[in-house]
Order: sequence, then structure tokens, then C-alpha cells
Amino acid sequence: MSQFDLQDELNHPRHATPALTGLIDRALSRRRFLGVGATAGAASFLTLNPLNQALAASAGSPLLGFNSIAASTADTIQLPAGYRWQVLVSWGDPLFADAPAFSETERSEAAQSRQFGDNNDGMSFFPLSDTRALLAINNEYTNQEYLFAAGKVQSLADVRADQAAHGVSIIEIALQDGQWQRVLDSRYTRRITANTPMHISGPAAGHALLKTQADPSGRQVLGTFNNCANGMTPWGTYLTCEENFNGYFGSAAAVTPSAAQQRYGVAAVDAGFGWHAFDPRFDLAKEANECNRHGWIVEIDPHDPQSVPVKRTALGRFKHENAAIHINADGRVVVYLGDDERGEHLYKFVSAKALDRANPKANRDLLDDGTLYVAQFTAKDGEIRGEGRWLPLIHGQNGLTAANGFADQASVLIHARLAATQVGATTMDRPEWVAVHPSGKQVFCTLTNNKNRGTEGQPVGGPNPRAANHYGQILRFAPQAADHSSDTFSWDLFLMAGNPKVHPGTAYAGTSNINAELMFNSPDGIGFDAAGRLWIQTDGDYSNQGDFAGMGNNQMLCADPNSGELRRFLTGPVACEITGLTFSPDSTALFVGVQHPGEEKAPSTFPHGGMPRSSVIVITREDGGVIGA
Ligand code: FEO
Ligand code: CA
Ligand code: CA
Repeated sequence: MSQFDLQDELNHPRHATPALTGLIDRALSRRRFLGVGATAGAASFLTLNPLNQALAASAGSPLLGFNSIAASTADTIQLPAGYRWQVLVSWGDPLFADAPAFSETERSEAAQSRQFGDNNDGMSFFPLSDTRALLAINNEYTNQEYLFAAGKVQSLADVRADQAAHGVSIIEIALQDGQWQRVLDSRYTRRITANTPMHISGPAAGHALLKTQADPSGRQVLGTFNNCANGMTPWGTYLTCEENFNGYFGSAAAVTPSAAQQRYGVAAVDAGFGWHAFDPRFDLAKEANECNRHGWIVEIDPHDPQSVPVKRTALGRFKHENAAIHINADGRVVVYLGDDERGEHLYKFVSAKALDRANPKANRDLLDDGTLYVAQFTAKDGEIRGEGRWLPLIHGQNGLTAANGFADQASVLIHARLAATQVGATTMDRPEWVAVHPSGKQVFCTLTNNKNRGTEGQPVGGPNPRAANHYGQILRFAPQAADHSSDTFSWDLFLMAGNPKVHPGTAYAGTSNINAELMFNSPDGIGFDAAGRLWIQTDGDYSNQGDFAGMGNNQMLCADPNSGELRRFLTGPVACEITGLTFSPDSTALFVGVQHPGEEKAPSTFPHGGMPRSSVIVITREDGGVIGA
């Protein structure tokens, strides 16, 4: 979701003190890398080169085979020489043969529920054969300024159309004439919306806090919305992550949210979606518990259009960003999970049972049974590297007791944020996506920005080293002995974004892999390709002014995780965010999400002329080669 609210902070950044800046500079100058190469020892800081030396030694990284492109404010996609792009699917495109064509003026539940949803975000590629595949794609939210002539919902019919533009789209694609194209009316095609029936499973299923008037069982729920990023399991299912669910609940009545609801941002005033005025399910005065049934990870089988999606409560309830899965050496499933809010936390789930590769059906409920942990970081003063611990969120341990408001394990999971505070988790600068390096030795997490860093409860330090942090950084950590079930890890910062022209010589200039030609703010989507290139997408301030002068539109970069070298690969159209990435198995096609071009009526006609429309694009090389190589 866009970061427009950053704009109010632009002219009043509160910088780190000179003393702290000096400490950070010294930390940078003696910074060491966590090795990821074949010769790297697990969980050890190997390379003694300061960052500058590492970069100088690696100019012309063997991983990065394209030239960095310039920042751009153009209303289009720009790519390095030798690359091309085309639109795969846009908001409102018909997904079924009998679905109506996109209309700039007509909006209905009937049409929208058979068209591609709005604001595509995370997505995964599920191969069916060498030339056919499914794409599962999140449709995070809606830009009502484009959906409705009035710029907002005005009736229950409008709400139903808006709800139908949310959720997930599953489409089939086929390689035809060397390009991946959409297959209309595939038997797999499916829209999952804010009204699709789902099961609730895991330790919190059936709990009193999940029971509503419509569902006294606490085990059946309608729909998913604000589906941010994603994950893909080895047993062939898709994980869609519910993020800013709170913004859909509200009330015209005088309601007083509980302390727990307040921690999740649930309030009488919604985020502007307006659903509660027409759909009582979203009116807090009429249904206090519906909001507890959102904010989960939802598992979907894209291969079976009749399957019922399942909300997996063992993975905790918060504002989920993505779900980065790693199969540990002992076969257990580890899922890294960010909670994207200023001062919230980084989590991981470790399954109780091991993956059974010989029997995919045996893995169906692996995500129902395991332990959720939250991260606590330590560092010496001013250093941007250190150690960390995973603290288990288990009822009865570390103060997670009835006396402290946690009656049982279900309430620990439903109120995971409160449990994390109880056990002493570190407040972070908005954890967004997590990505595990293909070697399994390192894990990366974008900390997108945090204007509140340095205020009460959010001390400056450790992996969050800058007050009023409007640029963001990328955290890197290595589990002890590459064992992702380990309770301990080492960490450093892979990069800090910044603006060396506006803030030379300070921590706000960013790390030395940032320069005047290569700068950006608010790293968000990240993912590794098969060769180990780290792809970075931004959701930041695109004003190109003040602290953000020279950064241009939101963009996509590619990094060599061994050397820290960085190159800009893509620039997006006006007022977009670049979010969502997945590759074909041979890495010759890269699917990228272009979200909310022209938001808030910014001047964009991307990509078809006329009304701007969120779209998935597919990027290939003119010579058919591997993307990025
Ligand atoms: Fe949907 Fe935190 O981004
Ligand atoms: Ca995001
Ligand atoms: Ca973001």
C-alpha cells in the first residue's frame, strides 16, 4: 500500500545526533559480511573487507549482467538495454469467456468477481508443464477514486463490487510464440474475494474471540482482503497474507475499541473503505469479533478451484507482509513473517512435523502445528551488527499467562502483537518482505521506513539505527549453524537506503553501495532468483523532491548479496508502487507487479491509455536469456 503519509514528514526529519552518526560511520567502516558463497562457513562473519573495499573488488559482479539504468519520472516501464516488457493482465480484465470487458464507469459485483481484481501485489508461479502454469496473484485493495464515480462506496451494491475487487486471482498462463500469455476460461481460473467462504484452522479455531453471530462455531469465515504478499509451499499451495485488515472495520456508533483492538489499529473511523456503513459484518458496534478473523495467513490450493481456503492461526495474527518458507535440514517447515507497522516485529514459525516429500497430502496441515517465535536483537552501542534470539510465543512461558491477559494459546496467537511485547521483542522499522538466500545460510528482511523511530518505545539502535527513518534498510541474519530452528542468529544490515546528495556525510546518506546515481527509498518486496541475485522493489515517496530528490518513481533493483553491489533494473510509471515478483522455472521470464499507478488521481494513463490500471507485466530478454544474468 502506498506511503503517502510519509509526505508530512519530508520537511522535518529528525536526524541522528552527530555522535551517533559517527558511531554508525565507524560501524560501517569496519563492517564485515556474512558470507553466502559455497566456501562460506555457516553463521560466521567471514569477509573482513569494509564495504567500500568489497564493492571495489566486485565491480562487475559475475551475478549482475546488465547496466544500471537511470532514475525516471516517466509514466512507463523502463528497463536495461536488451530487455522488453508486456502487460500480462490488468485490473478489470475478464478472466472468463463470459465476463464483461473492463469498463471505466460500470462497476458491479457480478462483473468484478469474474474480472482480475485491483491492486495486484504478491504472486507465485505454479508450473503445470514446461509451457503451462498457474499464477496465483494477490489483489490487495482498491483505489475507490477509480472504481466509483463518487470516489467512494454509496450503497451495499458498491460495497459488494469493492469486496469483489479484493482477494486473490488465479489464472492460467501458457508459453505461446515465446511469450507467456493469459489463457482465458481455463478450468483453474478462480477469483477469491472478501466474500469467499473459508475455514479457520489451527490452535485458535473455535475460540470465543473468533465466534460471531453469523458463525457461532468460530471456524467458518467469509473472505480475505488486504492480501499483501505471499508464499509458496513445497506441497503446491499458495499462502496469501492479510495485512491492513483493520482499515475495513468501523462504526457510526460510539464504540470503544478494546486495548487489543487498538494495538491492531481497529477504530470507529475506518481507512476510508466505507464497508461498515452498508455491511454490518464490518460494523464494530454490531459485530465486535469479526475483526479477529482477519490478519492471518491463508492457504489456498490453486490446482483445485473447488477447494476451500484455510486460515492458519498457528502463524499468528498481525499485519502480515509475506510468508518466506524454508525447509530446514531436519525437514521441518520454517516460515519467516514480517508485521508491517512502525514499531512492530519480525516472526518465524517452525512446524512440529517434518515435510513428507513422498506424500504431498500428508503435508496438508503442517502449518497447523508448530511454534511461533518473535525476534529480539542485540548490538553494541552504535553498531549495525550483532546477535539475536528467537523468543517462543507459548502460553504459560515468559509471562504469557492468564494473569497477564493470555488465557490460552489461542489468545496468544490472536493477540500475537501483545504477546510479542510481553516477551520482550524488538520494535522494528516496519518489517516488510523476508527472503531466504538459496544457500539457506542467510535471511534478508526489508525494514521499509519508520517516521516514529526515536519516539517513546521505539529507541534508536541495533537494526533500527536512524531516528525518523524515512529511507529504510535491509536487515540480514544468519541462523546459528544454518539451522533455522535455532534460537540464535547473527545479524547485520545489508544496506541502508539514503540520499548522499541531500545528506552527505551523515547516516541519512545511506551505506556506500548507495550513490547519487543509484538511490531509492523504502525497500519493500524482495526475493531471490535461482542464481542468488537479490531483487528489491520499492514502495516509497515518489515526489522526487526534498529528501527524495533524484530518486524518481518507484523502482526495482538487483543486488549481489555477496559483494553488496547494486544496480537499478526497472523504473515504474507515475505514482505506482512496484510489488510482487515471481520467475518462470528457467528464469527467462520475470513477472512483476505494478500497483496503483496514478493513485489519488496522479497523472498516469498506465498501461493502456485512459484510466490507470494496476497490472502484472512480464519481462523477458530479447535474446531469450536468463533475467539479470
Ligand atoms: Fe502491502 Fe506492507 O505492504
Ligand atoms: Ca509491501
Ligand atoms: Ca510498503
